[in-house]
Amino acid sequence: MDPIKISPGGEFSLGGKNFVIEGEVPARDRRPSTSEAFTIVKSEPYLRAYEDLASNFSPRSILELGIFQGGSYVFLDKLFNPCRMSAVEISPKPVVPLLHYVSRTENRFVHFATSQRDGEMLKQIVLGELADEVDLVVDDACHAYEETKASFEFLFPLLQPGGIYLIEDWSWATTLITNHQMLLFPTAMLCLTSYSNKSCCWALPP
Ligand SMILES: C[S@@+](CC[C@H](N)C(=O)[O-])C[C@H]1O[C@@H](n2cnc3c(N)ncnc32)[C@H](O)[C@@H]1O
Repeated sequence: MDPIKISPGGEFSLGGKNFVIEGEVPARDRRPSTSEAFTIVKSEPYLRAYEDLASNFSPRSILELGIFQGGSYVFLDKLFNPCRMSAVEISPKPVVPLLHYVSRTENRFVHFATSQRDGEMLKQIVLGELADEVDLVVDDACHAYEETKASFEFLFPLLQPGGIYLIEDWSWATTLITNHQMLLFPTAMLCLTSYSNKSCCWALPP
């Protein structure tokens, strides 16, 4: 697949859908997704890292934690083309263009008003909607230690062998990652650990 072409204004298209990058815009000022374009909160280095991942990894099912305006959901769906995909978001406010998207695609699900800490719900999603074969989890939700750990403890054991559990922006709310490490790994996903033939990656902001 050709690399995604991103305009100077942060617009790009993938799989027939349009996206606007709003990573640098303060959260309260970000544009809502519309029927014309989804808002995505990932900077270009993150998008490139996902492109690299998609060149040699084909997950059958994806679970995303932290939807915001749905741009990342549609981006991951178009990039990886999984059989099944689901996502949870703590905000109770549904994103209408995303609901339309999901309703038009088979085996696509979203859950608003759902916390990443809700282990029972996460388990139901994996066993039901994702047919018990999740092999990519993207945690871009709360970024706080307790929430991140709670989801990880529920979901990592459910990940398929060879699966990837990816935690974005890990340094955002924790002091565990030092500036020194951020300088060493300025843009890439940093794969730290591999257990039982599954990988867990922490992605650092550029
Ligand atoms: C960084 S934004 C997600 C951006 C989106 N993945 C993208 O790339 O466009 C983080 C989202 O996580 C949601 N969130 C925060 N805490 C959460 C929690 N405990 N459970 C689920 N979602 C949460 C926020 O409401 C927000 O929409």
